[in-house]
Amino acid sequence: MSQTILITGASSGIGKATARLFAAQGWNVAATMRHPDRENELTDIAGVRLYALDVTQPAGIRTTIDQVLRDFSGVDVLLNNAGYGLFGPLETVSAEKLMDQFQTNLFGAIRMIQGVLPAMREQKRGTIINVTSIGGLVGLPFNSIYHATKFGLDGLSESLNYELRPFGIRVKIVAPGGVATDFATRSLQQTTDGPSVYDADIQQVMAAFQQSGGAYSSADQIAEVIYRAATDDTDQLRYLAGADAQGLYAKWKEMTNEAFMAMIQERYGLA
Ligand SMILES: NC(=O)c1ccc[n+]([C@@H]2O[C@H](COP(=O)([O-])OP(=O)(O)OC[C@H]3O[C@@H](n4cnc5c(N)ncnc54)[C@H](OP(=O)(O)O)[C@@H]3O)[C@@H](O)[C@H]2O)c1
Repeated sequence: MSQTILITGASSGIGKATARLFAAQGWNVAATMRHPDRENELTDIAGVRLYALDVTQPAGIRTTIDQVLRDFSGVDVLLNNAGYGLFGPLETVSAEKLMDQFQTNLFGAIRMIQGVLPAMREQKRGTIINVTSIGGLVGLPFNSIYHATKFGLDGLSESLNYELRPFGIRVKIVAPGGVATDFATRSLQQTTDGPSVYDADIQQVMAAFQQSGGAYSSADQIAEVIYRAATDDTDQLRYLAGADAQGLYAKWKEMTNEAFMAMIQERYGLA
């Protein structure tokens, strides 16, 4: 019988590429998104069913997970992928933007995990894959709030393995570097709306981020890593996805914190 994956944020980028790949491999795909009525690509793929789900809405999460469980008699893999970037200085971030970033990138993933766990425990197997980022392991300038959510999701994932292991459930982390998706355009929000004392440094950092665009992975490449995490039947915890993420993490591990931070200062043109 086909296995089932439930994906959050399947309307674009990594989530959509993962939906396509798993369906091509014969899986049932519960592709959840905020606006399934606007989707016109996944609708034509056999094995994919669309569901409305906003990860910041607890009542909707429960309803949708219950529907998916009824439709497929269980969920083998949960992919917590929905998320967006919040760029800019911490000092001026509004309470609303702060809360929304945590509600989406971290609390949403927690609610999804809570939602599938009773069924996964009962079936005595399951894999939860959390899409974090190289920014869940290494800090870069002017991304502090985003990092807080992704470092949070990384630590949560590692810890959760201990309590779920007795039930045959694994938690895995896929940490991409730069990926050519809508992440840096329509999905990227700014902490600060108007001018600020940080503007000169922000310009430097923005320019450096934009220059690195050529080295980005494709969403399909990240989907391949997610597929490996879902099917390799190992206890591997972290999957660094993309040569840029692997390279930066290797440097972070081999250098002292101080030497690493000096290198980042220089790379981003900061004083
Ligand atoms: N691209 C990168 O460089 C990169 C690097 C490292 C990590 N990541 C992570 O990869 C994940 C996917 O991002 P992506 O690169 O594929 O970008 P993307 O194309 O912008 O996709 C983001 C997805 O998240 C969804 N989403 C946002 N808020 C949501 C909410 N409240 N409820 C449900 N879905 C929501 C979006 O839905 P809508 O279509 O409704 O907006 C969209 O489907 C994110 O967690 C991101 O942090 C990306």
